Amino acid sequence: MGSSQANKDIVVLNTIKQIRKQVKDLKSNNKTIGLVPTMGALHDGHASLIKKAVQECDEVIVSIFVNPTQFGPNEDLDKYPRQLKQDVEICKANGAGLVFTPSSNEIYPEDKHLTYVVPSEYYQSKLCGLTRKGHFNGVATIVLKLFNIVAPDQAFFGLKDAQQLIIIKKMCRDLDVPVKIVECPIVRDNDGLALSSRNAYLTQAERAKAITINKLLFKIQELYNNGLKNKEKILNTALKILDADIELEYLEFLNLDSFKETNLLEKNTLIAIAAKINNIRLIDNIVI
Ligand code: PAF
Repeated sequence: MGSSQANKDIVVLNTIKQIRKQVKDLKSNNKTIGLVPTMGALHDGHASLIKKAVQECDEVIVSIFVNPTQFGPNEDLDKYPRQLKQDVEICKANGAGLVFTPSSNEIYPEDKHLTYVVPSEYYQSKLCGLTRKGHFNGVATIVLKLFNIVAPDQAFFGLKDAQQLIIIKKMCRDLDVPVKIVECPIVRDNDGLALSSRNAYLTQAERAKAITINKLLFKIQELYNNGLKNKEKILNTALKILDADIELEYLEFLNLDSFKETNLLEKNTLIAIAAKINNIRLIDNIVI
């Protein structure tokens, strides 16, 4: 296990052939591999995934790839923050040994008639899937491609993208993908805002409004702790916290195992929210 790996040399690779060669060498030396899939613009949330992977595996590969197939036509693919040099430093400082940062052409050399992994409609037809049509096809496809390229023993994902995590776990079970999915807790700033690469779009004033999203979730937790269980009653009180300029996309209660909507708050309930502030879309959640 590599607990003292921080600041060791880091290798940055762009092609599938190069990364496969490295993986082959590592496996022939019986090294376990941890993969942290990312789209770059790394923050402390990603750093926590890398650190966890370093604790669990002999070598850690961070993939940095802004995956075009998971963005809708009117989404922020072009303006998505890209800062490779800084990202590589973060990977290095947290003990990763390899960064895989392919071009779009390397990953999708044929841009027509692609084969997609299509997660079950049951999991796609809720939360982010309602407004981001096809998003999870793109996510599942790139994640499976990365698993096929890197063949990791374990892969590390944040609970902030809870629906993504659930869909990836289900994909691995359904398609017998031999990768252990490790879920890692949400990392928050001091003001409680869940870390996200998209927070970089927020002005100070927008950020002050954005934190009412996490305040709302914490209020729900507090109401539950005080004995309130009914969704409608909880929302009557808690929704007042949300800043008036925030456009609520969804605020749902789901059982984490069945992924079924529930009106009764109990243990293992996922409370997930998506909201826009000046067109900047933020998601967050808590699990009771
Ligand atoms: O969570 C993300 O950053 C992306 O959806 C992922 C898993 C790296 C796939 O592109």
